[in-house]
Amino acid sequence: MITCHCNYITDKEIEGVVLGFLREDPWQLVVPNKVYHEMGKRGRCCGCFPSVVDIIVRTTIEFHRESEGGIPDGLGRVISRLEELRTRLTEARNRVFVA
Ligand code: FES
Repeated sequence: MITCHCNYITDKEIEGVVLGFLREDPWQLVVPNKVYHEMGKRGRCCGCFPSVVDIIVRTTIEFHRESEGGIPDGLGRVISRLEELRTRLTEARNRVFVA
């Protein structure tokens, strides 16, 4: 499914990049700009970024769930930071599209 209509990026492409980052370092904080930079793309309208954060959260939880140690205690903090980011991005998107 297309997640970013400006750059024609699918959810599966985003998941693949996120998994690549998590395999390098399971504790790094992955954010939309980092994913797009890795793909050689950049946010244009950035309206997709809240959805990209949702994909990052879902992929991160699944990655840790399937890893040997299971879901670690500290993952909640990482997810919480990502959810704060999604809220701010959604608010910013709504300000731009409503104005
Ligand atoms: S929809 Fe992704 S940058 Fe516009």
